[in-house]
Amino acid sequence: MIKIVIIGSGNVAQHLITAFKKADGIDLIQVFTRKKESLLHLLDSQFIIDDYSNMLEADLYIIAVSDNVINEVSTQFPFQNRLVVHTSGSISMDELSNKNRKGVFYPLQTFSKNKHVSFNEIPICLETEIEKDYQILEAVAKAISNKIYTISSKQRKAIHVSAVFVCNFVNHLYQIGNEICIENNIPFAILKPLIEETASKIESLSPIYAQTGPAKRNDSQTINTHLNFLTNENQKEIYKLLTKSIIDNGKKL
Ligand SMILES: NC(=O)c1ccc[n+]([C@@H]2O[C@H](COP(=O)([O-])OP(=O)(O)OC[C@H]3O[C@@H](n4cnc5c(N)ncnc54)[C@H](OP(=O)(O)O)[C@@H]3O)[C@@H](O)[C@H]2O)c1
Repeated sequence: MIKIVIIGSGNVAQHLITAFKKADGIDLIQVFTRKKESLLHLLDSQFIIDDYSNMLEADLYIIAVSDNVINEVSTQFPFQNRLVVHTSGSISMDELSNKNRKGVFYPLQTFSKNKHVSFNEIPICLETEIEKDYQILEAVAKAISNKIYTISSKQRKAIHVSAVFVCNFVNHLYQIGNEICIENNIPFAILKPLIEETASKIESLSPIYAQTGPAKRNDSQTINTHLNFLTNENQKEIYKLLTKSIIDNGKKL
């Protein structure tokens, strides 16, 4: 059994706790959080600590806290030369404290505490300083997912920037679409089959070939009608910028 301690009680920590509790070959022996009550719905209180000095010896320590405190948390561990990893898409492995062996265990998905995810399908990006530690991380990742990737800190940064475009920005565009629907007494649900087909299209087509719409056709009359329709200056700017990007991209074909 691989013994694991998790640090954190947020979105990622809670999903990892749920996944590890069900996983074969994994023994989640402890979770550190500053607010013990935030994990009582998932764990018996004996498994939750709020003092670093009570940390048990484990094969792996997974830091799943806000990006800007990863280094600070890693420096507080009262031990040396153990395997300590973080779960961030954007923080370099080197930012972990030098007193322990370093690695990264980055699950590439959007996690919210109250939204179930199936870990099986979530890509897990792994990085370690030494090969022996990679084998431990790989065994842990394989216990909860079928999609394991070896990814350097530089590549992970690129993945994270891509993820902001394909997840966070796309979701923001859903929000704009939702606002426009509300303003015009249209149920947002009417757009859901379109959203689903757009996402599923890239299973078989590269995004550049899946693109449709007035910008792809360079249909200037329709583009101007849309710009006249929009009253919100921010929405207009986003529309213009994305339209230009799609037109410029079309020239590459
Ligand atoms: N959410 C996602 O979709 C996602 C996906 C992949 C990777 N990640 C990465 O996973 C990590 C955690 O993200 P998250 O979404 O789970 O964050 P989150 O829900 O905001 O939770 C942040 C956690 O950090 C803890 N924390 C903050 N400051 C701390 C400190 N000084 N000492 C100890 N703990 C502290 C918080 O503890 P308290 O409750 O005590 O404040 C909380 O448990 C981040 O590195 C993030 O980049 C997130």
